[in-house]
Amino acid sequence: MTPRVPPPSPGNLALDERLRVALAAERDAALERRCPAPTERRGLRYRLGDREVVSFCSNDYLGLAEERPQTAPQPSGAAASRLVCGDLQVHRDIERRFAGVMGFEDAVLFPSGFQANVGVPASLLQPGDVAYSDALNHASLIDGLRLSSATRRILDHLAAPPRGERAGDSAGARWWFVESVFSMDGDGPASAALDTHLAAGGCVYLDEAHAIGLYANGRGRASQLVHRPTVVVAPLGKAFGCAGAFVCASSLVCDWIRGHARAFVFTTGVSPVLVPRIAHALDQVSGAEGDRRRELLWRNLATLRSILGDRAGLGAHGTQASPILPVLVGDNARALALSAELLQRGWHVQAIRPPTVPEQGARLRITISAAHELDMVERFARDLCELLDRHGLVRGEG
Ligand SMILES: Cc1ncc(COP(=O)(O)O)c(C=O)c1O
Repeated sequence: MTPRVPPPSPGNLALDERLRVALAAERDAALERRCPAPTERRGLRYRLGDREVVSFCSNDYLGLAEERPQTAPQPSGAAASRLVCGDLQVHRDIERRFAGVMGFEDAVLFPSGFQANVGVPASLLQPGDVAYSDALNHASLIDGLRLSSATRRILDHLAAPPRGERAGDSAGARWWFVESVFSMDGDGPASAALDTHLAAGGCVYLDEAHAIGLYANGRGRASQLVHRPTVVVAPLGKAFGCAGAFVCASSLVCDWIRGHARAFVFTTGVSPVLVPRIAHALDQVSGAEGDRRRELLWRNLATLRSILGDRAGLGAHGTQASPILPVLVGDNARALALSAELLQRGWHVQAIRPPTVPEQGARLRITISAAHELDMVERFARDLCELLDRHGLVRGEG
């Protein structure tokens, strides 16, 4: 028997109406958002509606998301918060292993990078601390800092914190919150600037979501620094092709987070089912297989860059190798039109619009993967060039 569907209450109807009006306004500004619903996914190939497409917008930089390791069965759930009785040996083992590979004393496993960023800052920062936050930081960092009691200062994109400034008269800590590879731009802060801040007694909270797994031995950009950042956040949903996130730091900081970060304390421990997958990805990423895939990734990037040349702001972000290439378009509707034209040719590149990027910052965010075949990259790059040239999108315009 089908259960009876209760009629909507007046309050529910009023909420629906409010959302209908807001959605209509979004549609008018070409800001409507919809999950594209890919089906029949096989690596970077899938079906979108009636089209077979190749993705140039996933974060599966090393092509590991389709790995199906045969691993010993694990219990489905941790059954409680880690602080209650959900702290399992598999959690502790993988945390120690990950920390070791990344060159840290310890690491804490969170269900996601978003949750880590929302939870950790408030547990570590206190009144009197200053948190310098890059203007283009990810939403999770912004939200995490909003929950903290530190004084917030927004830095121009890629600017370093001023030297020696303190919050009022207090001798609080000076934190720099920044992504090592920016998710929508592919650029990042200079290693020398990070080292200078650390050497001068500052703390660095480095979000390595789009860097972890891609540099020396599968580490992130922290591997390029002389000093160890205070905190490194390593989400596993990108190059690791998995889910969850580690927060890497000293043993003391990690123990503090386990006891005080509300997003860790008041949530169920990560499902043990996930842990062998993370372990497998870590083996891959930090070993010879990772080296092989990184080589393919950078080869594909070099190919794409050499064909695209200077179009639409590409390459404007200096020499840092990252798998993210933004094609700056500016206008929302135009970004959607370009994305639709690429789809017609069998390429999926999602248009990124505000509020994910600043106003007038709409773009195609192209990402490259080790799983792309070379001829795929060449054909995609040529199609993209043709469209950009047709739209008059050359560097400095748009
Ligand atoms: C810079 C940055 N930090 C954090 C996150 C969140 O990570 P997760 O997907 O694991 O929640 C993302 C992913 O979108 C990101 O781009």
